[in-house]
Amino acid sequence: MRTPLIAGNWKMNGDLALIDEFADALGAAALPQGVQVALALPFPYLSAARERLPATVLLGAQTLNPAESGAFTGEVAGSMLKDVGMTLVLVGHSERRSLYGEDDAAVLARVNAALASGLTPVLCIGEALEEREAGESERVVLGQLEAVFSELSAEARARLVVAYEPVWAIGTGRTASPEQAQAMHAAIRARLGEWSASLADAMQLLYGGSMKAANAAELLAQPDIDGGLVGGASLQVDEFLAICQSAG
Ligand code: G3P
Repeated sequence: MRTPLIAGNWKMNGDLALIDEFADALGAAALPQGVQVALALPFPYLSAARERLPATVLLGAQTLNPAESGAFTGEVAGSMLKDVGMTLVLVGHSERRSLYGEDDAAVLARVNAALASGLTPVLCIGEALEEREAGESERVVLGQLEAVFSELSAEARARLVVAYEPVWAIGTGRTASPEQAQAMHAAIRARLGEWSASLADAMQLLYGGSMKAANAAELLAQPDIDGGLVGGASLQVDEFLAICQSAG
């Protein structure tokens, strides 16, 4: 049985006041048993969030530099994230791929750096609108999955989480239908099964792309959707908590 995981991705948003709002709400909220809650925050807020949020909330960053250390002004290493109590790190988010030129090789390097630092990589994969309209969604998404998983050991594969985020659904309010999302999640799980049946069975597959309180329950009811990677809705504490409740 896979543990449901609802992760918020604040992107380049938020402040200390919002962290305190979440600390108060998550501290008081009776979240459903067995639902994992996580937040991926901008670098400046990681330590404060670790101090102020309940220990049960998993925290992480939204990217990392693949180098262990060195002359990379402005960059952050995986060991630094681990040092300040982080558990996970997003890798390959579509915005990193499109805005910062992170190709499959760069994504793999970041997955390996996260693993080496003892962090859980959340591998983000997803197709663009034109790829879906061309009927290329599965080829693109499984290609992104294979570009990483084919290069990992069996032990390493088991340490990842995968988030399917159709790019055309991110920030658009145009959510994938439960059927669309389930179909892709099933394809991802089937491909994982070609490496290992136990890997496929255990892998938490998150959906991201305009998940809201209003649509979360229907998405999370799908057999191969184990949680969500939530952007905009994770900036409103009540909306985010409602999504977490839907995961129970
Ligand atoms: O990483 C999650 C994000 O890409 C989804 O954003 O605003 O569509 O929930 P949003």
